[in-house]
Amino acid sequence: MEIYAALPPHGEADIIHDAVPAGAAVLELGCGTGRIADPLAALGHRVVGVDDSRDMLAHLRAAEPVHSSIEDLRLGERFDGVILASTMVNTFDPAQRARFLRTAAHHLTPGGILVLQRHAPGWAEAAAPTTWHDGPVELELRDVVRHGGGLVSATLVHTLAGMVEEQDFTGQVLDDEELTSVLRDAGLVFDRVLTPDRRWVTARLAT
Ligand SMILES: C[S@@+](CC[C@H](N)C(=O)[O-])C[C@H]1O[C@@H](n2cnc3c(N)ncnc32)[C@H](O)[C@@H]1O
Repeated sequence: MEIYAALPPHGEADIIHDAVPAGAAVLELGCGTGRIADPLAALGHRVVGVDDSRDMLAHLRAAEPVHSSIEDLRLGERFDGVILASTMVNTFDPAQRARFLRTAAHHLTPGGILVLQRHAPGWAEAAAPTTWHDGPVELELRDVVRHGGGLVSATLVHTLAGMVEEQDFTGQVLDDEELTSVLRDAGLVFDRVLTPDRRWVTARLAT
């Protein structure tokens, strides 16, 4: 937990702030420690942060915590902005991806905007072992296996002051066409690309 809380933001709140109307109420699905949700609240948004970890939610300062799985979340409220960041849309499990996107669609107002952060299209061919720093945290991507068909497995190691956290993951990289298709199945339409690396994109409810 200390390691995740030490990871700094990198302008994610500004990307989202520029994509949604000023003052829009925003729901973040999988908000973690509020690395994005709290800076977004500081930009004038009411932010509700959902996570299935109470330990993560305990770190929120300005965002309102909701303890729930994303898949089962059904709040009696809709939002002008919904966020699904941290490549959660790239879960290797298509059924889980569909449930994430249905939850997002369920909580959007008509005209509301879903902001997604995905793996960069093409990452499945480029993924390779690497190390880097993120604020005080040392990161290592290792044991990278490219399975083909956009599927990548790897281990992500976080190290901070002698603490080490290892996460094995498998991600399904989604190009624009594939993302359009899974969005359509959830009643959403691909809208626009927000960043040059094509990782941040928006979607809207289908009319
Ligand atoms: C990698 S963290 C990212 C947090 C935040 N979006 C950020 O960028 O700092 C992903 C978070 O999603 C939460 N999470 C993962 N799967 C979830 C699920 N199915 N339902 C609710 N929360 C989930 C985890 O507990 C974790 O806090």
